Amino acid sequence: MKLCKIHILTFVAILLLIPVAHGWGVDGHLITCRIAQARLSKAAADAVSQLLPAYADNDLGSLCSWADRVKFRYHWSSALHYIDTPDNLCTYQYNRDCKDEDGILDRCVAGAINNYTNQLLTYGDDNSASQYNLTEALLFLSHYIGDIHQPLHVGFTSDRGGNTIDVHWYTRKAVLHHVWDDNIIETAEERFYDSNVDELINTLQKNITTVWANQAKAWEACSKTACPDVYASEGIKAACDWAYKGVGEGSVLEDDYFLSRYPVVNMRLAQGGVRLAATFNRIFG
Ligand SMILES: *[C@@H]1O[C@H](CO)[C@@H](O)[C@H](O)[C@H]1NC(C)=O
Ligand SMILES: *[C@@H]1O[C@H](CO)[C@@H](O)[C@H](O)[C@H]1NC(C)=O
Ligand SMILES: *[C@@H]1O[C@H](CO)[C@@H](O)[C@H](O)[C@H]1NC(C)=O
Ligand SMILES: [Zn+2]
Repeated sequence: MKLCKIHILTFVAILLLIPVAHGWGVDGHLITCRIAQARLSKAAADAVSQLLPAYADNDLGSLCSWADRVKFRYHWSSALHYIDTPDNLCTYQYNRDCKDEDGILDRCVAGAINNYTNQLLTYGDDNSASQYNLTEALLFLSHYIGDIHQPLHVGFTSDRGGNTIDVHWYTRKAVLHHVWDDNIIETAEERFYDSNVDELINTLQKNITTVWANQAKAWEACSKTACPDVYASEGIKAACDWAYKGVGEGSVLEDDYFLSRYPVVNMRLAQGGVRLAATFNRIFG
């Protein structure tokens, strides 16, 4: 009985730690997957609905944070959520930067996006079932295209993408990475959307078809099946121009920072959703 209680507490503690560690938080991923699923072609919508487990009830958003939840079980996957680039250079190059801490090439979020795109391209092949688990490929790709759009997921090596920079988000202690995973989105939801994530999703969708309609065409463009290098280069530039800019150890981040940065977060969420859909539409034809 006691053991059981400890296990439950450990489990709860792990759940609480997840948003701190990596990637957009739960809402950021939900937003990109919801935007994406509404933009799928018939063929892509059918494939996604086939590959989702039955309990997801054809809602990709409900499993968009699955990759964060399996990080402990699939320890090998934890290096696939981000890219470390050289400190202060503000550039990204696949061959230089897409590796894990042991220096193994391809083990970063851009390599993972290529990997799971290639796996999903076997959908419909006769013997693909034996080779890959395409349900997992779908959930990994959905998550990683979100992560690569979080600017600090393509961050500097020595501060681990802002994870070691302690700041205050208004009056609360936070690390800079978490501010970009969760706090900016949460504060925007509270202040402008009555704490209702669906309202934020609706507004983003409306903007994608109006004020961003022309840009959205350019966001979708990709001469291959997946274009993670483009997104990673934009990411480190946004990290330098907006996330790291003016921030040091102990900085107090409040309205000045929030009001100038939340439009960047809105755009990255919209880009992530539009590009995830476009990638699925290219994969499933
Ligand atoms: C590619 O996918 C397989 C299956 O999930 C995984 O074992 C491997 O680590 C992945 N590699 C990369 C670079 O994503
Ligand atoms: C594929 O992965 C999912 C999620 O991890 C799992 O539930 C399912 O059993 C796997 N399918 C096969 C055929 O191994
Ligand atoms: C939508 O676009 C309007 C007009 O440009 C802008 O004021 C608003 O902040 C945008 N909202 C989101 C969530 O993108
Ligand atoms: Zn992640």
